[in-house]
Amino acid sequence: MLYSIVLAFCFISLCQCEEPKSCSQFYYVDKLLEKMIRNEVKGETLEKEIANTNSNVQLTLDELKRERYNFKNEIMEFKILMEDFKIKTDSIKETMESKLIELKTEKTMSTPNVAFKARTVKDKNPQTGETLIFQDIMFNNGKAYDSSSGIFTVPVNGTYLFTIHICVNPGKDFYYGIVYDDILNTSGLFSDSSYVKCYTADAIMQLDVGQKVWLICVNNRSSGNILEERTSTASYWNTFSGILVHV
Ligand SMILES: *[C@@H]1O[C@H](CO)[C@@H](O)[C@H](O)[C@H]1NC(C)=O
Ligand SMILES: *[C@@H]1O[C@H](CO)[C@@H](O)[C@H](O)[C@H]1NC(C)=O
Ligand SMILES: *[C@@H]1O[C@H](CO)[C@@H](O)[C@H](O)[C@H]1NC(C)=O
Repeated sequence: MLYSIVLAFCFISLCQCEEPKSCSQFYYVDKLLEKMIRNEVKGETLEKEIANTNSNVQLTLDELKRERYNFKNEIMEFKILMEDFKIKTDSIKETMESKLIELKTEKTMSTPNVAFKARTVKDKNPQTGETLIFQDIMFNNGKAYDSSSGIFTVPVNGTYLFTIHICVNPGKDFYYGIVYDDILNTSGLFSDSSYVKCYTADAIMQLDVGQKVWLICVNNRSSGNILEERTSTASYWNTFSGILVHV
């Protein structure tokens, strides 16, 4: 009875046989077994694949852990480096700041621009004790030289260099004196019997604010002594100059 039902079912649904002889009673079982085996093989493959995937995931995880560990170490190293860098930067900053202060101090302590030069002596026949006045200012940085009196008034304490350049007629002389506050500091005689000659003399003085410096004729041994000339063929300039060398 059951057999006939299975057979009938086979005939109706599953066994769409082309040839009646292949539609045996084993056909269905065969097909079923085949299917089961196929599924089993598939299952095995799947299992293998899952195992494979698992081990891959594990490997990846391990790798990630390693990387995380390395990354941590790298961050630590970087932190140490940054700390070291900060210490170095701070010390550089400190050095720079102290250098800057030094530079600023140097700048404020640097020598002020005090320098003058004047020419054209007013009186070419100066008397004893007379101040020589150089009327034409060539430059007067610091405005310490007065061209109306011929006197330089010290604007800042310091070491000054003064220079005079005087041309003397032949057979005449000029007895010069560079004075500060009426005290003779440097003195000498310019003279030649045969030729016009120009001479230079200097004085280096340590002076304080307000002290005065000028050029005097120490002794009028002769008259008509200084030659002041500016022609196309001859040029005799008489000058007085000074500069602050050091504060
Ligand atoms: C000239 O001046 C310098 C510097 O101020 C000073 O040392 C020297 O004693 C002075 N000389 C005379 C003769 O006054
Ligand atoms: C200039 O020098 C005098 C005398 O040495 C001193 O008393 C004075 O304080 C100095 N002035 C300055 C601005 O340094
Ligand atoms: C020198 O000066 C005195 C007084 O000022 C004057 O009497 C004399 O003539 C002058 N000597 C010369 C050579 O200029």
